[in-house]
Amino acid sequence: MTNARPLDLDALESTAERVLRAATSTAELAEAETAALGKRSELAGAHRTLGALDESERRRVGRELHELRERMESLAAALRLELQAKERSAALEADRLDLSEVVVADLRSPIVRGRTHPVTQSRDALEDVFVAMGFKVAEGPEAETDWYNFEALNMPPSHPARGMYDSFFLELGEPETIVLRTHTSPVQIRLMEAAVAAGTLPIHAVAPGRCFRRDTADASHLPVFHQVEGLVVDRKITFGDLAGTIEAFTTAYFGPEVHSRLRPSYFPFTEPSAEYDITCTICLGAGCRTCSNTGWLELGGCGMVDPAVFMACGIDPAEWSGFAFGFGIDRCAQMRHQIPDMRALVENDLRFLAQF
Ligand code: DAH
Repeated sequence: MTNARPLDLDALESTAERVLRAATSTAELAEAETAALGKRSELAGAHRTLGALDESERRRVGRELHELRERMESLAAALRLELQAKERSAALEADRLDLSEVVVADLRSPIVRGRTHPVTQSRDALEDVFVAMGFKVAEGPEAETDWYNFEALNMPPSHPARGMYDSFFLELGEPETIVLRTHTSPVQIRLMEAAVAAGTLPIHAVAPGRCFRRDTADASHLPVFHQVEGLVVDRKITFGDLAGTIEAFTTAYFGPEVHSRLRPSYFPFTEPSAEYDITCTICLGAGCRTCSNTGWLELGGCGMVDPAVFMACGIDPAEWSGFAFGFGIDRCAQMRHQIPDMRALVENDLRFLAQF
């Protein structure tokens, strides 16, 4: 076949270049690339005519076409960078806050004040209750070592109870395993170690704070949630002290109609262990859907500090005894305000938050 029109590579190149340069946005550029370099482009058509040329011609023109395509591709890449930069600065400009803008208050609609989040309100109220009962408020780090989150709490590496805590690990192994704390119980260990080092036993402390678990959020679970830990270490502390403390804070926080009960349970760091329920805050014990007609809602765990935990902290279990408890603050807020779905607490919808 010798009757194919000779290729005008210069014209081909200037058309492709014009098409690419005409794009004024990255979206347009993507279309222009398809038009200038895609399967149906003139350039692709030119490639298809190569077969009609004799071998040396085919090589020469093929190389030129290849080089032309490379030039167009790098032009497109350069244009894309330019357009992206333009689009980014346009987006930033559109987003800019004018801090000098004067907002004239409309005196007919009073300025709405911000207020603390319902979880913070609950945390503050719980702290007040415990401080009034003689507890100190303590805090601990959110990123914990394996020792504090598990091992010193009587959960050695192969302990099956570790499976209860779907953990977010930050570092594995060397030099140390670091985990986002799955509960506030590690603060117990820090409090005991510090009291031993400073010679300041006994301990009466609560430790509120954020905890993290690889949980899917649902109506009663959040992957980032809040707990309060309680720890009492003194001489001759009994299970009766524990039960009395839980009942006292329950009525102080939820009101005199709400009581507590303990059910036997298991935690590695307490012996004996219990879970505790409070009177259902919806039906006040009569039985309803929320409490599955039991009249009770589960709130937290507790127990007498296990001797193994005392020993990990250098405390003699023959001389000292103590109790610990832990429960969710978000859950308290949910029960106190009868919030059907806990996820509302993290959605930051002002129509929801303004109710508290
Ligand atoms: N740390 C436990 C959890 O998050 C709750 C708990 C149970 C805390 C018993 C305690 C305790 O202090 O004694 O599942």
